[in-house]
Amino acid sequence: MKPQYRLKLFDFLSCLSDILDWISPLLNDHHKQVAMIAMRIADIMELPAAEQNEIVCAGILHDIGAISLAERMETLRFEYTTGQAHAEMGYHLINIFAPMSGAAELIRYHHVYWNNGEGSTYKGRPVPIGSRILQVADRVALLIDRKRPVLSQSEAIIERISGVAGHMLDPLVVEAFEKLAEMEYFWLDIVSPLINKQLEANVKLDTICMCQSELLSLASLIRRMIDFRSPFTATHSSGVSATAEHIAGLAGMNEYERFEMKVAGFLHDLGKLAIPAEILEKPGKLTDDEFNLMRGHTFYTYRVLEAIKDLAIINQFGSYHHERLDGSGYPFRLKQNQLPLGSRVMAVADVFTALTENRPYRKGMSNEQTLLILSKMAENGKLDHDIVELVKKHHEEINQVRIKAQEESRQEYRTFLENIG
Ligand SMILES: [Fe+2]
Ligand SMILES: [Fe+2]
Ligand SMILES: [Fe+2]
Repeated sequence: MKPQYRLKLFDFLSCLSDILDWISPLLNDHHKQVAMIAMRIADIMELPAAEQNEIVCAGILHDIGAISLAERMETLRFEYTTGQAHAEMGYHLINIFAPMSGAAELIRYHHVYWNNGEGSTYKGRPVPIGSRILQVADRVALLIDRKRPVLSQSEAIIERISGVAGHMLDPLVVEAFEKLAEMEYFWLDIVSPLINKQLEANVKLDTICMCQSELLSLASLIRRMIDFRSPFTATHSSGVSATAEHIAGLAGMNEYERFEMKVAGFLHDLGKLAIPAEILEKPGKLTDDEFNLMRGHTFYTYRVLEAIKDLAIINQFGSYHHERLDGSGYPFRLKQNQLPLGSRVMAVADVFTALTENRPYRKGMSNEQTLLILSKMAENGKLDHDIVELVKKHHEEINQVRIKAQEESRQEYRTFLENIG
């Protein structure tokens, strides 16, 4: 029987949204706050339960298309008229995973101005009520000053929101918000440290059972989220994944394990979502602080994937790629005997890909230089000697596999950019 992977959708989305909001303290819990407000509005408007759940899913990831820190901060301007770009990007990132396609549609239109009813459609397509709810929720959330008691601000926020009903926001949704806004609990829940518990208690999201191809499409969604943030990294995870899968085969891992390596390669840099794109794209040397921030990325990968019990092995394969055999790696300082074969292969695949791939500011290294560095790292007890020997023996074919995967993903990136205009 083919393996199945269970995914508790809420746990996973909740971790992912935390990561997206770690990028700045000003954004802490922003995605959850929007999900919470949207959920309450959808409830008081008596939308069907399935639709409410979709709205929460969309809320919890709605700004996923705003990739740089600058862009995220821009979304916090109240009169924000250029939001369509990140909304469209968010849609194209998410809609490839079937269980999230409804939420993707809502994200797509969460910045369309109501314009006295003109905004009920956008480019000939209907703007769902869920998108209009998200928009109100988003504007309410950003008006909350995190340094002051929320109840001291509610009146001013209501006034501000009501002032743009009809012009920016759908008046029916604003009316529903006004009803809720009379009640203290509505406000207190938004800024509560227990927001996660409260959301979880209200949303009934199923546990999804994924077959291998569904898991691969989820992993692809995440890969695109990570890589497409920047032309600098646009094909990195595809390269690591293909390289890792191939070396795994050479190292004798079976078909099932190779599949897990492929998925792990897609996910290995997941934690980079918590790192501002400005740092990822910095061509020169990172400052100590930037470097230390960067070093957190595998830790975040590990913690997010931990939320999915059935991915425990894949998590080890992916998240340990900066651990070193002599215990000098991070974040767990694991040693050789604590690192499964897949993790040791992934570490080699990551270095191999990082050295050989082209970046906008430099060409990839030659095979000779790459193999020299890998050998040195094996000699110094950083990388697995036997795996490096395998790479030396088969470097031509491994490199071809990497190039092919990265060319395909470069094409996918181009199409993606065309789609978002
Ligand atoms: Fe947004
Ligand atoms: Fe937002
Ligand atoms: Fe990494």
